[in-house]
Amino acid sequence: MAIRLGDKAPDFTQDSTEGTIKFHDWIGDSWAVLFSHPADFTPVCTTELGQVAHLKPEFDKRNVKVIALSVDPVESHKRWASDIEETQGAALNFPLLADGDRKVSELYDMIHPNAEATATVRSVFIIDPKKTVRLMLTYPAPTGRDFGEILRVIDSLQLTEYEKVATPANWKDGDDVVILPSISNEEADKLFPKGYKELKPYLRMTPQPNK
Ligand code: BEZ
Repeated sequence: MAIRLGDKAPDFTQDSTEGTIKFHDWIGDSWAVLFSHPADFTPVCTTELGQVAHLKPEFDKRNVKVIALSVDPVESHKRWASDIEETQGAALNFPLLADGDRKVSELYDMIHPNAEATATVRSVFIIDPKKTVRLMLTYPAPTGRDFGEILRVIDSLQLTEYEKVATPANWKDGDDVVILPSISNEEADKLFPKGYKELKPYLRMTPQPNK
């Protein structure tokens, strides 16, 4: 069955470049990003894995673990890892699942046969510490992802988890946010001591509360 936002992320046990991963145990109390690649030794994937390796401190800062997947064996992943380090200037510093039996790819519906018969598409799942799926993205094989956007979404998910706000178009950490329409002005006066601008009764802007 297709995975939807709000569903429990399916658990699995699979080999990786860092040994056997039991997914839910591996996530622990962190957030997680699970992202798939069409195959090892492919150009776009090489740049993506290098980019995530460079951004690892940014994921760490947000208590987010990253894990990639490709439908090739561990030995192949390890040989590819040297190319990633050589060409992208960053060593693989997170696990790469070896999904040769397509257990995880099928569980997460990462193979879209009308796009590509056997390879995984570029899927992204953001999963919270309760193991709930909070975001899904699907990109086609020739289009590399923007991992700055993934970090931006994580900032929004983590902010809106704890504050009664939502983040507007193109928002980035530190920008003004919108007050949830379910909050009355009386509540808003108490919750947002920095004040707010009411552009419409349903559109009230306030400085980011946790800054
Ligand atoms: C890749 O690098 O993964 C890729 C590039 C072009 C087409 C398909 C895949």
